[in-house]
Amino acid sequence: MKVLIVGGGGREHALAWKILQSPQCDALYAAPGNPGIKADGGTCVDIDVLDTPGLIEFAKTTDIGLVVVGPEVPLANGLGDAVREAGLLCFGPSKKGARIESDKAYSKLLMQQASVPTAEARIFTDLEDARTFVLSRDHGVVVKASGLAAGKGVIVCKEPYQAIKPLEDMMEGGVFGDAGSTVVIEELLTGQEASVLALCDGKNIYPLEPLQDHKPIGEGDTGPNTGGMGAYSPVPIVGPDEMDRIEREILVPIVDAMRRDFGRYEGLLYAGVMFTPGGPKVIEFNCRFGDPECQPAVMRIKGDLLEILLATAEHRLDEIEIEYDPRPSVCVVMTAEGYPGPYEKGRPITGVADADALEDVKVFHAGTIMSVDGDLLCNGGRVLGVTALGDTLEEAQAKAYEAVDKIHFDGAYVRRDIGSKAIGN
Ligand code: AMP
Ligand code: GLY
Repeated sequence: MKVLIVGGGGREHALAWKILQSPQCDALYAAPGNPGIKADGGTCVDIDVLDTPGLIEFAKTTDIGLVVVGPEVPLANGLGDAVREAGLLCFGPSKKGARIESDKAYSKLLMQQASVPTAEARIFTDLEDARTFVLSRDHGVVVKASGLAAGKGVIVCKEPYQAIKPLEDMMEGGVFGDAGSTVVIEELLTGQEASVLALCDGKNIYPLEPLQDHKPIGEGDTGPNTGGMGAYSPVPIVGPDEMDRIEREILVPIVDAMRRDFGRYEGLLYAGVMFTPGGPKVIEFNCRFGDPECQPAVMRIKGDLLEILLATAEHRLDEIEIEYDPRPSVCVVMTAEGYPGPYEKGRPITGVADADALEDVKVFHAGTIMSVDGDLLCNGGRVLGVTALGDTLEEAQAKAYEAVDKIHFDGAYVRRDIGSKAIGN
């Protein structure tokens, strides 16, 4: 079978790397892909993720058996519907399904209707009303642009007055364009977070082993939020009892609520969950694999990922059993100087092959490009996702940083504490 992956980041490289190992995979294409996918045997095709007609045309003429959509933006743009309307198999939800991520106001209302535990929230389209509301609060608040903002549209404010500037920036200044014209203002919750990723085929829900992301840029969870600075799996705070509770109180009711609202949700459903003193509560839903969570997730999945994604697209998840490598995995993201603000592109990267040559290490490309001279250059804020397995979480962490230390580019930055919450180091 021929597979088309849509996207070109670390998540898509991880999916491509694993799918290329499937005995069912005859050829893998990625639009636009990245140099890492190409180095692993994929073919990159220069079609934009938002060029739906171009992607459909390519998939039909190339006889693609499964289209796997990585990022949220093409899903919110209706690519899942277009692929299915063209009579092809797709891993990824419809445009209506993607709304669970692309419209936080809608997502919040759906959670409230389905009694899914989540932060108390109010939705605003008027700046004055939003301002009056936050100034009436005694406790911290979280301001969220309702639309898509690449993981950067969430501002955590320990004091209510700190919300005024972000509200003005979003609702008046247009920093996130239309995405910020509606805002969700939530109560500030406390507790550890985990990412629960579940395959959904419209009938069955199959949660994967939980992961933990590290969203803030700075060590000890300080500074502004990013798309994710690193992730690991499994997460000791989320045992079988917690997973049962999450499935029962969160995944099943939200999938049922979506079915009542528009029909089947197919693809991956990502629940960002906070373990508060009052139990697990949803911080956000996403309509696709997490990035970087996908990287340590696929490192641990044994067997045929293509078969798992196909079973999801063909509504037969009840036929499969996912086996895991019992060894923990850790992914450390290397970012460009300045990220999550404006950052430099075009700086040469060295040492990736040396890092990749270490046993149980895989370097996933996220924001890289190959120059005409064959030099690997930085081309994004998140540049690489250095991922390792180890007998213990501590060993996986040490291995990941050993690999990181072999890679160089000017201004490279990593958090040195990925996984430390679980290890205590
Ligand atoms: P999101 O993009 O919605 O996942 O938010 C990014 C990050 O902001 C989350 O991973 C949390 O660390 C934090 N956050 C979001 N909502 C809340 C909340 N209600 N209380 C505390 N922290 C939050
Ligand atoms: N790593 C968080 C996300 O993918 O949204």
